[in-house]
Amino acid sequence: MLTDAVASGWIAPLGPHVDAFEAEACAVTAMPHAVALSSGTAALHLALLVLGVAPGDRVWTSTLTFAATANAIAYVGAHPVFVDSDRVSWNLDPGLLTEQLDRAARAGTLPKALIGVDLYGQCADWEPILAACRRHGVAVIEDAAEALGATYRDRPAGSFGDLAILSFNGNKIITTSGGGMLLGTRKDWIDRARHLATQAREPVRHYEHKDIGFNYRLSNLLAAVGRAQLADLERRVAARRAIQGRYRAALGELPGWSFLPEASFGRATHWLTCATIDPVAFGQHRDQVIDRLAAHDMEARPVWKPLHLQPVFAGAEAFRGSVAEALFRDGICLPSGSSLTPADQERVIAAIRAT
Ligand SMILES: Cc1ncc(COP(=O)(O)O)c(C=O)c1O
Repeated sequence: MLTDAVASGWIAPLGPHVDAFEAEACAVTAMPHAVALSSGTAALHLALLVLGVAPGDRVWTSTLTFAATANAIAYVGAHPVFVDSDRVSWNLDPGLLTEQLDRAARAGTLPKALIGVDLYGQCADWEPILAACRRHGVAVIEDAAEALGATYRDRPAGSFGDLAILSFNGNKIITTSGGGMLLGTRKDWIDRARHLATQAREPVRHYEHKDIGFNYRLSNLLAAVGRAQLADLERRVAARRAIQGRYRAALGELPGWSFLPEASFGRATHWLTCATIDPVAFGQHRDQVIDRLAAHDMEARPVWKPLHLQPVFAGAEAFRGSVAEALFRDGICLPSGSSLTPADQERVIAAIRAT
């Protein structure tokens, strides 16, 4: 497909692979409309804009996520409000969310939108989350950047919000080196996002602009890469799940080790294999394990630092946070890339077991 994109001369932005990539992303996520973009962050930004989120509005999101989720809220001048995780999926705690939305409704402080995140390849518990948001008229954006290929009650990640976003950044399960997708239930939202992403150029002969636009589209060349990768998604999911299975079999019995649970409501991709390590039971803190792996030239990382603890979001409102804080304190993401061979993995396992 890449050679086709080059040979056809469609190296410039846009072209037939972009349209096909959008259609294929719709098919995989069961969403009716999509626009391919330069990043998942751009998709989040446009999602908030098409929902009309304005300066001073509140947007609630998970505290345990990558900064990009909340950065987009700041781009539109809105205030992020952070909600704690549950231990079932490490995603938004649906009970806490429901309770806080009910309270905010009474106080007149409801958010304009919620960005729910599907973390580390596992869907959030969407049924109660959507029910609570629907009851209070809160729009929902699903941040499925890390979860393409996961399911929740037999429905695919990317199908749960009014809008959803995907990332094709270098470390994701499929990648275009950099790229993203905005998916939506309403054509007018996606048309508006496409317009804003294309410098908001009006459809007339000369250059006419009524809005501030962005240069957020994905090139035809990268869309061709994305299409080839998307066709390989199921194999990649199986590979990530196999990696997690081998880690769990080899390390699951170590004292103090608990792997990110696969919630009964769906299939996780295990985009990254994550675990928590109780330092007292294991005898070593998570950081010592990361250091030991680094000494063998292997890269493990801490679980995301909760956003309510990030200096850049100091002062933002947060509902609880203790679960996410504990997951950050003890959590580790093990080497999990698609190119990790069983032999590489044996080396990681041996290094950990030798601690
Ligand atoms: C949860 C989450 N949201 C958003 C993003 C942003 O995606 P991108 O890097 O494509 O801008 C990422 C990853 O990079 C992510 O992990």
